[in-house]
Amino acid sequence: MGKKIGIGLLGLGTVGTGVAKILQTPDKRHPLVRDIELVGVAVKNLERPREISIPTSILCQDPNLVIDNPAVDVVVEVIGGIEPARTLIMRAIRAGKSVVTANKAVIARHGEEIASAASKAGVYVLIEAAVGGGIPIIEPLKQSLGGNRIKKVTGIINGTTNYILSKMAKEKVPYKEVLEEAQKLGYAEADPAADVEGLDAADKIAILSGLAFGGSVERTNIPTHGINKLKSIDVDYANQLGYRVKLLAVAECLEKKENETNSLPLAVWVQPTLLPKEHPLAGVNGVNNAILVEGDPIGQVMFYGPGAGAGPTASAVVADILNIAGINFLGEKSGCLDPLLAASSWRMCHLASPNEIIQKHYLRVKTLDTPGVIGKIGTAFGEHDVSIQSIVQFDASQSGAEIVVITQEVNGEQMSKTLKEIQALKEVIGIEAQIGCL
Ligand code: HSE
Repeated sequence: MGKKIGIGLLGLGTVGTGVAKILQTPDKRHPLVRDIELVGVAVKNLERPREISIPTSILCQDPNLVIDNPAVDVVVEVIGGIEPARTLIMRAIRAGKSVVTANKAVIARHGEEIASAASKAGVYVLIEAAVGGGIPIIEPLKQSLGGNRIKKVTGIINGTTNYILSKMAKEKVPYKEVLEEAQKLGYAEADPAADVEGLDAADKIAILSGLAFGGSVERTNIPTHGINKLKSIDVDYANQLGYRVKLLAVAECLEKKENETNSLPLAVWVQPTLLPKEHPLAGVNGVNNAILVEGDPIGQVMFYGPGAGAGPTASAVVADILNIAGINFLGEKSGCLDPLLAASSWRMCHLASPNEIIQKHYLRVKTLDTPGVIGKIGTAFGEHDVSIQSIVQFDASQSGAEIVVITQEVNGEQMSKTLKEIQALKEVIGIEAQIGCL
């Protein structure tokens, strides 16, 4: 190959350092890695001690200088957060440079605007590292599964919360302690609330949904519940009943109703969910992520691997850089993009009402320990046509009893009507937990 591909790196934190390490050690990697050269790096603080050595001649504090550097062909944005990352990505596109980014927050909210600007400028914006860390999931959805009608995408797509839940279930380590560990290991977001409140997973499922179903949905309207309100007692009860609790992110294509517009209705949500121990996602532990894709005609296919951390995320960033290097190698000129890799939206989608989400539910109801209470709760379910899969009394003492119910599949409306009725029973002290269930 003739000229090397010049990389401008915006950010030298956990992921940026991982990317630089790969580019600096091309031995035994794909030969194309030798044709990629780091020519500019923007950092916040020039004085900060670093675990890798970067020539001072290519370091600077102003990311605009890196973008505008004529030696930079591809801009790699690994700063994170919405601004200034979004503005920098748009600037790079306007400068006619392809972009590789791990930024799920920006792509989930501004993906369409960015894709359309990139397509006008004839450049690529590639995002493999934005979802699932080192797991190849973006490219399979764009390319390898293109012949399918995708029905559902179900993922464990936040490494930090999966790490916390796995430790809570196995070692009974307190929540706070495990979160600190995840932060030290470089898994958690700068503000870990984004992980534990489910916002990071919601960004990621918005992106997967857009690729799987061909159109974006309003990110801010995705019903999102994290693990921050989950009680360890429910993880314990779930375990005793043969389930694991995982933070699931789901995007599902619903049937169009009569008179509905051309837009495709999608149910998209994030919530802690009970999974039967034999479910393929139940055994995904630690920082690992997994994404189960269901399509026609493929059936089910699962993508599994490390979902966060420097090495895995850098692996995905470099894969995208190589994709662009490969296209340059073929001598393709800008303005003639590979439509699968560029992945612009090709249809309208919209979020269905949360009432249309159909799933099983786990409920923990605190009641007085009086005769007939289970019967009354059972009757309330029956009146709203909700079948019960199991009902168990876990604890009875002077302070009351705890009744755990797992329902069969019901829609959100049936469930909220039933809950209102149960809440109104004089024997019921409160509904202490409501968690999804597969
Ligand atoms: N905080 C994220 C996680 C990092 O824990 O999954 C990877 O996107």
